Amino acid sequence: MRIGVVGAGKVGALRIQTVKDNPDTELATIFDVSAEPAQAAAAGTDAKVVSSMEAFLDTPMDAVIVSTPPHLHEEAAVGALRRGLHVLCEKPLSNTVEGGRRIVDAALAEKRALAVGFNLRYYPFVKFAREAVDSGQIGKVDHVRVFGGHNGLHNFSGDWQYKMPESGGGAMMDIGIHMSDLARYFLGEVTQVSGVMSEKVYGLPGSEDNAVAIFTSPEGVPATYHTTWNEWKGYKSFVEIYGDKGMVRGSYAPMQNLLLVSNGPNGSVSKTRRFYPEIMVREKLKSWISTALISFQEELDDFLKMTNGDMNTPLADGYAGLRSLEVAHAVRESTNAAQLIKLPALGRMASV
Ligand SMILES: NC(=O)c1ccc[n+]([C@@H]2O[C@H](COP(=O)([O-])OP(=O)(O)OC[C@H]3O[C@@H](n4cnc5c(N)ncnc54)[C@H](O)[C@@H]3O)[C@@H](O)[C@H]2O)c1
Repeated sequence: MRIGVVGAGKVGALRIQTVKDNPDTELATIFDVSAEPAQAAAAGTDAKVVSSMEAFLDTPMDAVIVSTPPHLHEEAAVGALRRGLHVLCEKPLSNTVEGGRRIVDAALAEKRALAVGFNLRYYPFVKFAREAVDSGQIGKVDHVRVFGGHNGLHNFSGDWQYKMPESGGGAMMDIGIHMSDLARYFLGEVTQVSGVMSEKVYGLPGSEDNAVAIFTSPEGVPATYHTTWNEWKGYKSFVEIYGDKGMVRGSYAPMQNLLLVSNGPNGSVSKTRRFYPEIMVREKLKSWISTALISFQEELDDFLKMTNGDMNTPLADGYAGLRSLEVAHAVRESTNAAQLIKLPALGRMASV
């Protein structure tokens, strides 16, 4: 599969690396308004480095990875889909709900694969939790808790990352978008949202620094959600899924799991703890970026499957991308109106 990549920044460079490393993909072209990172990323390949979106989309290829800032995703994604190309788009799918919907509509109209880079689904702490739920070990899911935060603006290398017109919002569009996706990943769907977001710590209009919410599935199963830019302890995220027979927790960083399973009416509980010393050592030597890279490699493998009609992987589809935008918007709406916001079920996209 010939793949073009638009945006060769921090994440784009890693995405390009995965295309170079994968035996089933070939790097066709790179477009970045800044020529230097594009040239550097293309080194050692036959990929063309182009200087306009038009030239990028005119390159013969089969799929596109979009890794520009969020307000630029729509132009690249819709342009590629309209040319019959499959798209793997970085999160958030767009900076607006409307933009996300237009991207999804283009994928549906063109019958092309649309995947969204919710790569935390591929992190071992999430995979372990998913397996514990799917194997029935914790029983019927009763409620979910998700949290994702870090300690603020100094973590960002570019100001588009916290300025609403480009990013589409604050913590909910940053680490929070992964967590709302994971809440939906474990609930199956989110059709009700109520919450409170605030902009009091950094005072950036439209960029919430905190949001606390409850998401509910069509079956009435709730997830509590908190995302923040003032988690002063640093980058932290966790998912907890509680069932009628036990619970599973996954957290990062560091990568850890806890599984508690009730052994019956006598109340005894078996406990499994998972630490990931090999990941801790690798991250000490090669940084957390090495963990992100592995998740991107696995995402690319599943994207290739999606383009062949196989949707039976953890890869997030366009509806997952759209619902996470709608959920962030709904928390804002719920805050302003002091009301519960209802959303129609989307489910999963059909295979191409
Ligand atoms: N999956 C994850 O965990 C994860 C983590 C961080 C960022 N992201 C997402 O990845 C995307 C890129 O983030 P990043 O951290 O690499 O940002 P970055 O700022 O490092 O890179 C963005 C790149 O886009 C280029 N660019 C800007 N305007 C352009 C245009 N009009 N046309 C072509 N190129 C243009 C810039 O020159 C830059 O090289 C964003 O959508 C971001 O939200 C995802």
